[in-house]
Amino acid sequence: LPAPGVTALTGPDVAALLPRPGAESNKYRRGVIGVLAGSDRFTGAAVLTVAGAVRAGAGLVRFASAEEPVRQVRARWPEAVTTVVTPERGVQDVGRVQAWVVGPGLGTGDDAHAVAASALALDVPALVDADGLTLAARDRSLLRRSAPTVITPHTGELGRLLGVDADEIEARRLYFARRAAAELGVTVLLKGSTTLVAEEGRPVLVNVTGTPWLATGGTGDVLAGIAGAFLAGGLSPRDAASCAAHLHGLAGRAAAAGPQGGEAPIAALDIARELPGVIRS
Ligand code: APR
Ligand code: MG
Repeated sequence: LPAPGVTALTGPDVAALLPRPGAESNKYRRGVIGVLAGSDRFTGAAVLTVAGAVRAGAGLVRFASAEEPVRQVRARWPEAVTTVVTPERGVQDVGRVQAWVVGPGLGTGDDAHAVAASALALDVPALVDADGLTLAARDRSLLRRSAPTVITPHTGELGRLLGVDADEIEARRLYFARRAAAELGVTVLLKGSTTLVAEEGRPVLVNVTGTPWLATGGTGDVLAGIAGAFLAGGLSPRDAASCAAHLHGLAGRAAAAGPQGGEAPIAALDIARELPGVIRS
């Protein structure tokens, strides 16, 4: 790879890192993930984030949101345990979780801020994506946490967080990924045609397993669910983020590829569908 301080995970690295349940395992040991995503306006992001979490092997998915996304998730993922949350009570009725994913489709109003803040105040690892990042750009205190934090911005989201033009970020992705990690004290997974995972004091991990077919709405939400499941399963933030990017990219390729060669467009949910095959191999 080109620059010093930059490295890549190989398939065998990922295989060695992936949590595998032992004979004595149980669902709590495998990891309970809390997903705070979706809103009455954006229900799809909720379904997609839960899909990623379930297929990445979470022991249990606890889903928290407004009424309509809760209805949708219950209908499509009976595996998830759901709770309707209010801005007043936040996530306090959700039950114990080992890592939170906060943000896809959550909305950016005061109510969304209140529930996001209640989850991010807890002393467990958290991944912040999408609307969660928009909220954090306005109120950086959301990211000042006692437990590890992963953020998963695309270029525009990182630009808003740092107060820098998206074009500038695009021109110097490695620099800004590192700078955000240092400035915010978080693990940064910067999305795009290649994915970078930056953490202060560690080499930046580069992932190139993806495909431009991934450039379609909702694939980022699935990635957040996958990475969150790995965080809940006990992987370090850097390992969780980079294993998720690696498998998400491979699953995207597998979804695009036809049995006789050639490629076709994918839908975000296809990534979750391909994940078991990718993990097996
Ligand atoms: N090559 C490889 N991978 C790509 C490419 C590419 N050319 N383009 C995008 N990807 C991958 C990214 O690395 C990331 O994993 O596709 C995924 C896209 O994730 P997001 O940018 O988060 O997009 P998503 O959230 O799914 O959908 C768009 O983002 O800007 C918001 O509000 C907007 O709801 C919308 C949402
Ligand atoms: Mg997104």
